[in-house]
Amino acid sequence: MYRLSFALAAVLFACAGWRAADTANAAGEQQPAILIESLAGHDSFERYCAPCHGVTGRGDGPVASALRTRPADLTALARRNEGRFPRDRVRDFVTGSGRQLAAHGTTEMPVWGPLFRAFETDARVRERIENLLTYIESIQVAPTGAK
Ligand code: HEC
Repeated sequence: MYRLSFALAAVLFACAGWRAADTANAAGEQQPAILIESLAGHDSFERYCAPCHGVTGRGDGPVASALRTRPADLTALARRNEGRFPRDRVRDFVTGSGRQLAAHGTTEMPVWGPLFRAFETDARVRERIENLLTYIESIQVAPTGAK
């Protein structure tokens, strides 16, 4: 639990830092916010996933070295699933509804469902997550050679 809190704190801190930079650029008109306004999948990915998974999704973000578990390579989800993007499984993992934390020990991957819901409406959370899944699907690498 300590580890998870640490990881979350690191991400939220990073988010706040970027936000502060944005705000400075925007002539200080906006309130610093944890949650970005944009629901675009790419924007959510950069903000919430890239610190650990990297901007390219390969698992090499700036926070990755502080974690015990290496963040997954999110471009290889289809390749590791017989060429099909496992959208439902990824959704369950990200929102936390399909995660068996106890069975797999601790995890350093934040549970995003409740986090997003704490800051915005359920309708926006659903849209944010679906857009995020579509974005992650779009960065899948083609299966190479024999499966
Ligand atoms: C604090 C670091 C961190 C952040 C931020 C983070 N992840 Fe992860 N993620 C991990 C780690 C570490 C794993 C490795 C698996 C585990 O811990 O169970 C992982 C695993 C995953 C997996 C499982 C892949 C598989 O092999 O099945 C998915 C999907 C995923 N992350 C998606 C996301 C998405 C989408 C976001 C942004 C909304 C995100 N992650 C943000 C650390 C992070």
